Amino acid sequence: MQDFRVAQTIERRRVLATRGGVQSEVGEWRGQTVFVKTLLTAEPEATLRFAHEGGIAAGLSHPLVVPLLARTPRQLIFPFVPGGTLREVIEASPLPAGAALCVATGVLRAVEHLHACGVTHHDLKPENVLLHGGRARGDAVRLIDFGMSHSRALGTDIHDGTRMGTPHFMAPEQFRGVRGDPRSDLYSVGVLLFDCLAGSPPYEDALGWLVGIHEDCAPLPGPPEVHPVLRAALQRDPEARPATAGEMRAALEKTWNTLRPAAAWD
Ligand SMILES: Nc1ncnc2c1ncn2[C@@H]1O[C@H](COP(=O)(O)OP(=O)(O)OP(=O)(O)O)[C@@H](O)[C@H]1O
Ligand SMILES: [Mg+2]
Repeated sequence: MQDFRVAQTIERRRVLATRGGVQSEVGEWRGQTVFVKTLLTAEPEATLRFAHEGGIAAGLSHPLVVPLLARTPRQLIFPFVPGGTLREVIEASPLPAGAALCVATGVLRAVEHLHACGVTHHDLKPENVLLHGGRARGDAVRLIDFGMSHSRALGTDIHDGTRMGTPHFMAPEQFRGVRGDPRSDLYSVGVLLFDCLAGSPPYEDALGWLVGIHEDCAPLPGPPEVHPVLRAALQRDPEARPATAGEMRAALEKTWNTLRPAAAWD
């Protein structure tokens, strides 16, 4: 990752979105197609959030995590991943069990790297998982968006005490303001797997579940062999979830190995 003092020139720029003082664009930089986030405001909180996101992305390096190519005080430059998000794939149709398990396994591989680096993502959801070439496979996963992440290496946590996150995908303890517990990410991967299989997340009224006023979970989707993994990841109590991303990935791989012979005949 290169750290520049001066703004980099991006050619053939096309704006994709502008939100919270940050503009996302696709363009060309040094001969490759890039996805650029540009900070448009001098507002202190947005500036801090932007620096935080860049600082966390800069410390990661894994084939299933989108790499930060370059950073200036107002730009974050990533390679443009063609193919769209996992959300777009799910919207077209829920995934067959094999594809869902492989995508979730890929996400967990990326998450294992984050956790080994002392980073908790805190916003895992299909919108933040790109699929290279639009393929619903583990090796096509590219994890993005460290805007809400927590890093043990950073002395201060800019999101400390907040309830930041996306209610459908947020673990109950994260909703209560607990930051930096890797098991919160495992809950989110459980919801993501549920969403892949069912086409929607488990709780229609996610806030009601988070505050503890109901337990109305939609029926577990997919083959019954997957249900123990879903059930374990979606536990309200983090202690009752898999202890690590590696443990959850091993359980998914074992499940897929039992299903694969039958799936081959589908
Ligand atoms: N490297 C990339 N290549 C291609 N598309 C990307 C890339 N990074 C992000 N995107 C697209 O841009 C969207 C927003 O990016 P990101 O999640 O990093 O920002 P955000 O802060 O969540 O913004 P928003 O709130 O608008 O979703 C993603 O959901 C995805 O569609
Ligand atoms: Mg996002």
